[in-house]
Amino acid sequence: MRKLLCLALCLASTAFAQKWEGLALTPPMGWNSWNTFASNINESVVRGVADTMAANGMRDAGYVYIVIDDCWSKKARDENGSLVADPVKFPSGIKALADYLHSKGFKFGMYSCAGAQTCGGYPGSWGHEFQDARLWASWGVDYLKYDWCDHGTADARDAYKRMSDALHAAGRPMIFSLCEWGQNKPWEWAASVGHLWRTTGDIYDSYDGRKNWESGWKLLLDKQYELVEGNGPDGIAKYAGPGHWNDPDMLEVGKDGLSLAESRAHFSFWCMLAAPLIAGNDVRHMSPEVLSILTDKDVIAIDQDPAGKEGFRSVAEPAKQREIWIKPLSNDEWAVCLLNTGKTAADLTIEWNRLWPMQGKFSVKDVWAKKAAGDTSAPTTFHVESHDVALLRLTPIK
Ligand code: GLA
Repeated sequence: MRKLLCLALCLASTAFAQKWEGLALTPPMGWNSWNTFASNINESVVRGVADTMAANGMRDAGYVYIVIDDCWSKKARDENGSLVADPVKFPSGIKALADYLHSKGFKFGMYSCAGAQTCGGYPGSWGHEFQDARLWASWGVDYLKYDWCDHGTADARDAYKRMSDALHAAGRPMIFSLCEWGQNKPWEWAASVGHLWRTTGDIYDSYDGRKNWESGWKLLLDKQYELVEGNGPDGIAKYAGPGHWNDPDMLEVGKDGLSLAESRAHFSFWCMLAAPLIAGNDVRHMSPEVLSILTDKDVIAIDQDPAGKEGFRSVAEPAKQREIWIKPLSNDEWAVCLLNTGKTAADLTIEWNRLWPMQGKFSVKDVWAKKAAGDTSAPTTFHVESHDVALLRLTPIK
């Protein structure tokens, strides 16, 4: 009888399997190997990154997920069909690495792909979803990024739902990060499947450059505005919230292709978007200025605001070289980000009463400068360097 009951319960839990709830109530924060290391990833890099992040304040600022991206396995599965870590890159094995990261207060993420092969040409999880999920659970994985290369004629909803079910069935809570590049409008269906979904193709360390499949962060920012008809608060922003986030791709902050101003603006906008903050630079070798961008508590607080509302574009005027984005925060506060889109420094003005649907009178704090900046009773002018921002936090005056 007990066996029958157990069988019935197991079948029921398989039929109604859902994503792991209660994870990523604010946008996930961490580090991922891809943007700097690509296929040159190995355990000594990952340990070094973790040691650095534990010592330099990043872990304590919230960057707890350390994620190994593509190219971590051998090129073939073993005779049981299991994935095998590359013994040259990971001689101690993945479980030992996960244990090490956990012992330092981190959570551990890995990567696979819904297709037969990953984008880098390693085995994907197609047809092995439940087996792979069990393996990752046994290794202590806390986060899975799941790519979309080599998917053939597979249906995205079906493929991502299957891995979501597999992660649930494997019994270990994991954040599930969908990476199908926005091709199947995941914002419309993925909130019940995973915790974040990419909205675009890949980022690289450029302001507005484009190469092949990759774009600079400003183009990806523009794209957030263009993806869903309605824009503003009715655009893609409305799909993000606690436990389910739009992901405009990982951070390039601190990489060579960006000036310090462009890194600061990129970080500010990812916080305005309530984006996952997944650093992608070599944190072992970064300047104090880059570290201070990545760990600024007041800026991170805008990203991590518990209301979980994504910001949206309110004003875009290329001729005046300015854009203004606004983000609702909890307790009737707002964040406002003014970008200088021009090639030269400029005095840029915010006419507060144009920032629909923000209404009322607010005191203004300049978040990066850490100083008061008056109130919203009259337009305010900020001196902003090229491709830099003024990031502001507005508190209602009652
Ligand atoms: C795709 C993803 C990237 C990265 C690479 C790895 O391009 O979008 O973020 O994971 O694959 O090959």
